[in-house]
Amino acid sequence: MSTALPCFTDYATRFRAPVDAALSARCPHAEGAPARLTAAMRYALLAPGKRLRPMLTLLAAEACGIEPERAMPAACAVEMVHAYSLVHDDLPAMDDDDLRRGRPTCHKEFDEATAILAGDALLALAFEVLATEFQPPETAVACCAALARAAGRCQLVGGQADDMHPPHPNPTDPEAALETLEAIHTRKTGALMRVSLQLGGLCAGASAKQLAALDRYGRCVGLAFQIADDLLDVMSNAHALGKRVGKDAAQGKLTFPGLLGIEPSRRRAEQLIDDACEALVRFGPAADGLASLARFVLERNR
Ligand code: IPE
Ligand code: IPE
Ligand code: MG
Ligand code: MG
Ligand code: MG
Repeated sequence: MSTALPCFTDYATRFRAPVDAALSARCPHAEGAPARLTAAMRYALLAPGKRLRPMLTLLAAEACGIEPERAMPAACAVEMVHAYSLVHDDLPAMDDDDLRRGRPTCHKEFDEATAILAGDALLALAFEVLATEFQPPETAVACCAALARAAGRCQLVGGQADDMHPPHPNPTDPEAALETLEAIHTRKTGALMRVSLQLGGLCAGASAKQLAALDRYGRCVGLAFQIADDLLDVMSNAHALGKRVGKDAAQGKLTFPGLLGIEPSRRRAEQLIDDACEALVRFGPAADGLASLARFVLERNR
């Protein structure tokens, strides 16, 4: 890693249009697909999010020495899983939100049944893309297995389930509460970020040591990212953030600022980002993009 990091917005500018074009091309209106369903999928998928997970995939591929564009199908697959998870996260039965990425949530723009189904179809599409667009078949299988695990009941969906119904809602021991909270955050948010990096590495034929280093980086960035999300819910405003604020406390969610306070939460996130950047040393300047993204996680205001 070089000392003067390139600005994260340079990477965001470089990847934004190609990622959006690749997502759009993989989710067209199609014969046999109800137009309203496809419209809801495209509404959720192409809305102006940050595209951090596809960027993790592309930048991991770059760190491992290949042209990032070669990992584009995997980058699309992780953003499809992310978009589905947001559509379901916003449903009345879950966080009951009406604003996402500065627009009405999918179930507000369409209707609840259409939003549920659009989420289902985005999840299925992610695996279709991975299974059909990668060669050799061993790479496709490895990518599908890794994404399925990360999206499943022990990771993303498990974390979401515990976020709704924490296993120990009012632990008296603060250490135990922190452990529960970390377990929720690393699964509901961290797992998809980690696998985004792994898929980039797999596309590049990364060595076991490279994959382990990417995973160490991903663990730290994933947790720091959700701590920052919790902080933004307390400190930001809906206009800047593109989603409602103050919802975590209102819904009694277990969060880092709720448990540790604002400054200690910020320090914890800073420490995690330092640890993440240390994990990148073996890649040299090829990982400058990942290092910039890690710094951005703390500085972001949306
Ligand atoms: C929001 O993720 C959901 C969480 C996991 C906290 P992002 O903040 O990456 O959302 P978009 O993709 O930019 O909208
Ligand atoms: C969402 O976490 C995590 C997933 C969608 C898997 P949050 O509920 O904190 O995300 P926001 O704040 O609504 O974006
Ligand atoms: Mg939620
Ligand atoms: Mg939510
Ligand atoms: Mg949140």
